[in-house]
Amino acid sequence: MISNDIEKILVSQEAITKRCKELAAQIEADYNAIGEVPIVVGLLKGSVPFMSELMKYFTFPCELEFMKVSSYDGTESIGDVRIDLDMMTSAKNKYILLVEDIVDTGRTLVEVTKMFKNKKAKDVKIVSLLDKPDRRTCDIEADYVGFEVPNEFVVGFGLDYNQKYRNLPYIGVLKPEIYE
Ligand code: IMP
Repeated sequence: MISNDIEKILVSQEAITKRCKELAAQIEADYNAIGEVPIVVGLLKGSVPFMSELMKYFTFPCELEFMKVSSYDGTESIGDVRIDLDMMTSAKNKYILLVEDIVDTGRTLVEVTKMFKNKKAKDVKIVSLLDKPDRRTCDIEADYVGFEVPNEFVVGFGLDYNQKYRNLPYIGVLKPEIYE
C-alpha cells in the first residue's frame, strides 16, 4: 500500500476539496468580471487530479486542453523546457488558464508563459495547487495558489516520486528510507 510509504500528511483530501471550491469561485468571478471564459490548460501529468477537482466547480463553459513539457536534463527542474505534447487548439487571442501542480523554481512556468506569448494568447493566468516559494529562482508567481508548502519534497494528488504516488488523494512527505 503506497500510504505506508508516507511519513506525514501536509494537506488532507478534505482541505484540497474545500480549497478547490474556493479557488474555482474566485477564478470564475475574475473571468466573469471581464466577460471572458478561459481555455483551461493542464500541464501533464501532475495537474490531472487538481484540474479534475477544480473544474467540477466551474459553471462557465470552458474548454479543456493539455500540454506536456519537460526539462532538457530530465532530472532537475532547471534548464530550458521542451514541449513534448502541445495543445490541440490555437491559443491565438485566447484567455489561457494554466493549471500546474506546484511552482518550485518557477522555470517551467516562465518558459510556458513565454510560449503562450509567442502563440499570441491574449492573456495567461496560472493556478497552482501548491507553491514552494523558498525554492524560487525565477521571477514568477501563480495568480491563484491552493497551498504554500515548505521546502520539502512532496508527493500525492498528482505529484510523483519516480512516477509513483500521483494517485494518493492527499499531499504528503515520503519516509526517508524510500529515497535510500
Ligand atoms: P519548476 O520548473 O522548478 O517550478 O518545477 C515544477 C515541476 O517540478 C513541477 O511541475 C513538478 O513536476 C516538479 N516538482 C517540483 N517540486 C516537486 C515536489 O516537491 N514533488 C514532486 N514534484 C515536484
